[in-house]
Amino acid sequence: MRSIQVRTASHSYPVHIGAGIFAKLPDVLAETGLSPSKILLVTDTEVERLHGEKIKAVLDTAAPWCQYTAESGEQAKSFESFFNVQSYALKEKLDRKSLILAAGGGVVGDLAGFCAATYMRGIPFIQIPTTLLAHDSAVGGKTAINHPEGKNMIGAFYQPEAVLFDTDFLETLPQKELRSGLSEVIKHALIKDEEMLYSLLDNVSSPEEISPDMLEELIEKGISIKAAIVSEDEKEQGIRSFLNFGHTLGHALEKIAGYGFYTHGDAVACGMAFALWLSERTLAKQLGAKKIVSWFKRMGYPVTIPENFASGDLLDAMEKDKKAESGSIHMILLSGIGSPVKHPFKRRELEKLLNEWRLEGQL
Ligand SMILES: NC(=O)c1ccc[n+]([C@@H]2O[C@H](COP(=O)([O-])OP(=O)(O)OC[C@H]3O[C@@H](n4cnc5c(N)ncnc54)[C@H](O)[C@@H]3O)[C@@H](O)[C@H]2O)c1
Ligand SMILES: [Zn+2]
Repeated sequence: MRSIQVRTASHSYPVHIGAGIFAKLPDVLAETGLSPSKILLVTDTEVERLHGEKIKAVLDTAAPWCQYTAESGEQAKSFESFFNVQSYALKEKLDRKSLILAAGGGVVGDLAGFCAATYMRGIPFIQIPTTLLAHDSAVGGKTAINHPEGKNMIGAFYQPEAVLFDTDFLETLPQKELRSGLSEVIKHALIKDEEMLYSLLDNVSSPEEISPDMLEELIEKGISIKAAIVSEDEKEQGIRSFLNFGHTLGHALEKIAGYGFYTHGDAVACGMAFALWLSERTLAKQLGAKKIVSWFKRMGYPVTIPENFASGDLLDAMEKDKKAESGSIHMILLSGIGSPVKHPFKRRELEKLLNEWRLEGQL
């Protein structure tokens, strides 16, 4: 088992990573000083189908529990699901000593975390990530649901009491979800760890060929990078925004295509391809963008934008993204591998550059 302690201004908590470690939930509750009056398990239909029995067998050894199962997929981050979870929690008489356990991918983690942040002004919650992508979403305390106007628009910073990443859950993950999660691992390497990036580039030519040992190591590295950044800047006043590398265009693509068309990681990979080109173009630095983006392509990531997506619509969405400040769109660029910088663009300037990339820069 590998363990990392996340220390933010508001809270310090452990992240444990390893095969079979979900069974240690009762120990982790004791270790974190929790003896919940009741546990509300929040999961989704897919995780319930594949892992429900195993999860419930462990819960039986931990505390009285009840279960809310959301639909699988991004649509579960809705006002309606939020209302349904809260209503169910009230019906089950959860009190301030109850605990919410989020067992699932980033969708379940974000939804359950936001419910925990707001139920009776906040009750404890624990994250049990079951996707590779959730190595990112389960750590750092961002919780949210979507609004029709944009992704993650309604939410709270609210840290979990612990994160238990049982890598056995990943055995059932479809290939496209593995690739999606790997995109955030690659993002962590690009913004913070040049050696990790080149080791990935040299040793991985498809997401499925990553061995369980290597996967565990990548999860630990990714979480350590994220933990170091959020420890310094919990509420995104400064360097936390570097974690948005690839996300301004990525979120816009998810929105314009309709949520669910792209996996989050695929959209972010396309956003990173643009951000790498833009970094070289704007900062006049050689990052080896072509080599990195052709590797993205070999790994199966989309690195071009479909022709029928209008640049103007993408820019509208980018302007509405939370990163837009005082009339400018702030893009995270790289001045070197592992050295992110925040760069403001006027909308018209960025639209011109996006069109240039779409015409000439894309592979
Ligand atoms: N809070 C944050 O800091 C943060 C960071 C990154 C992403 N996110 C959010 O995370 C979400 C994406 O997360 P995701 O990619 O995990 O999506 P997800 O939760 O929808 O999971 C992807 C799919 O995999 C299924 N699944 C989950 N575990 C499985 C398993 N073990 N085996 C087989 N199938 C399984 C799910 O049912 C779903 O169909 C987005 O909403 C994004 O905004 C949040
Ligand atoms: Zn992301």
